[in-house]
Amino acid sequence: MTRTLSRMVLVAGLAMAGGGAVLADAPPMMMPPYILRPEPPAGDRLKAGGDGKVLFEVHCGYCHLVGGMGTNLLTKQRMMMGETPDKGLLANRTDLTADYVKSVVRMGKGAMPAQTKVDVTEAELEAVSKYLGKAG
Ligand code: HEC
Repeated sequence: MTRTLSRMVLVAGLAMAGGGAVLADAPPMMMPPYILRPEPPAGDRLKAGGDGKVLFEVHCGYCHLVGGMGTNLLTKQRMMMGETPDKGLLANRTDLTADYVKSVVRMGKGAMPAQTKVDVTEAELEAVSKYLGKAG
């Protein structure tokens, strides 16, 4: 009985050592950039005049930066319309208006869930839509 037990401990020990070696050989885990959300800017989220690019990266980036699910879906859509893949990133689009951005954010669109005023305040959305709305 004790023999069986010590054999089991030995086998478990070897399995753990082997597992350790496998982990040690694996490349370090890299977090994709869209998961690494930047720090939100300090200060009052309800105050106007924020940096639209920073607020976009904080509040929309986990879906709309490189590798995000929004980027993946939009890249396919834009390519089907004959555009280059870089147009999958909202920041590279020149056809968006600020009003369109605001309505998509509040109403949602297809696979994009509507963003509430807790997700993105009116002041933040104003800055983000100005940043993305290159078509006016
Ligand atoms: C949970 C992920 C997610 C978040 C967060 C998100 N989006 Fe989206 N967004 C998507 C997806 C997915 C689509 C494509 C929807 C479809 O066509 O089915 C999309 C589409 C859009 C579109 C439409 C583009 C077009 O060609 O019509 C705009 C504009 C947009 N998002 C802006 C934003 C902004 C601004 C924010 C931040 C305030 C934001 N989104 C946050 C996932 C997200």
